[in-house]
Amino acid sequence: MLSQSPTSHAGLFSLVASDLRRVEQVIALDTICCEDVVTRISAHLRSSGGKRLRPALLLLSARACGELGERPVRMAAVMEIIHAATLVHDDVIDSAEVRRGEPSTNQIWGNQISVLAGDWLYMQAFTLALQERHFGVLDILTDLTKMMVEGELMQAELIGRLDVTEQQNHDLMHRKTACLLAACGRLGALIAGRSEGVQERLRAYGWNLGMAFQLIDDVLDFEASESVLGKPVGNDLREGKLTLPLILALRSCTPDERRQVEAVVRDRGYAAVPAGRIREIVRRYGGIADVRDRAAGFCESARQNLRDLPKTPYRAALELAAGRWLVGRAS
Ligand code: IPE
Ligand code: IPE
Ligand code: MG
Ligand code: MG
Repeated sequence: MLSQSPTSHAGLFSLVASDLRRVEQVIALDTICCEDVVTRISAHLRSSGGKRLRPALLLLSARACGELGERPVRMAAVMEIIHAATLVHDDVIDSAEVRRGEPSTNQIWGNQISVLAGDWLYMQAFTLALQERHFGVLDILTDLTKMMVEGELMQAELIGRLDVTEQQNHDLMHRKTACLLAACGRLGALIAGRSEGVQERLRAYGWNLGMAFQLIDDVLDFEASESVLGKPVGNDLREGKLTLPLILALRSCTPDERRQVEAVVRDRGYAAVPAGRIREIVRRYGGIADVRDRAAGFCESARQNLRDLPKTPYRAALELAAGRWLVGRAS
C-alpha cells in the first residue's frame, strides 16, 4: 500500500483507513459515560456519518513526518471528539434540526442534555489528550478550544446583520474552522517529534486547508442539495448568517435585490423570497466564482506548505486533500 500514491478522491482516506477504524474504536470506548444518555449521544454522532476529515488530517500529518506508531490514533480520536462536541453545542446555538443527515442531538435529546453532553465530550477529549503527558499538546488544545468558543461568540454578535465585512468573515472562518484543522496538522508533527519549523508548516497547511474548506462549505450552502450536504441548503442565510459569496454579491446588487436578502434574514426563512432567487443573485454578481477562486488560492498555499516534507504517499494524500478532493466537493 505504501508504494502507491493516492490517485482517487477516496485515496485521501484509504491510506489511513485502518488507522481510522482504530480511531472509531478509541472514540467508542472512550465516550462511554456512566450516564447512559451521553454514551447514546456519542453513538448517534458516530453512526450518523461525518467525513472524519480532522482525524485523517492528523494521521496523515503524523505519518508524513515519519511517526508510524499508535500515538497519532489516540490524538486523532481527541480531535474528532472535540469536533463532535463543537457540533453538538453549535446545533443548540443554531437551533439546528439536521446534522449529518440525521436529526441533530438537540432535536432528539433537547438543549439541556445536549449542552451537558457537549461539555462532557470536551472534557473527555482532554482526559484522553492528557495521556500524552505533554504540555505542548495541552497548550494547543486549550488555545484551540478558546478560539472556537470566541468564534461562536463572534458569530452570535454578527447574526442577522447585513453589514458583515470581509475581515469579520475572515476572522470567523479562522476561529470556527481553520484553527481546528491547523491544530490537527501541527499536532501530527508534534507527536512525530518534529521541529518547530515542521510543526509550523503543517499548522499552516491545516490552516489554509481549513480556510478553503470553509469557503467551499459556504459555496455548497448555495449550490448543493440536502442529500449531499447532510443539512438543509440555504441554511446559512436562514440562520441569519452572511457568508462570503453573499457578502461579495451585496456589494454590487440592486437595492431591490438587497431587500430580498434582507427579507430572508428578517423572516429567518424563504417564505417570501425563494432560496433559488438568492442563489441567482449570488451567482449573477460573481459571488460563487470569486469564492471558488479564493478557495483555490488557499489550496495552492496549503500545497506550498508541504514543499519541504519528504515525498511519501502521505504527503501526496495531503496534497490531494488540498486539491482535487476539496475542489471535487464543490463541483
Ligand atoms: C462541519 O464540518 C462544520 C464546519 C466547519 C463547516 P464538517 O463538514 O467537516 O462535518 P462532518 O464532520 O463531516 O460532519
Ligand atoms: C459549525 O459552524 C460549527 C463550528 C465550526 C464551531 P456553523 O454553524 O457555521 O456550521 P454548520 O452549518 O452548523 O455545520
Ligand atoms: Mg450551525
Ligand atoms: Mg453556528
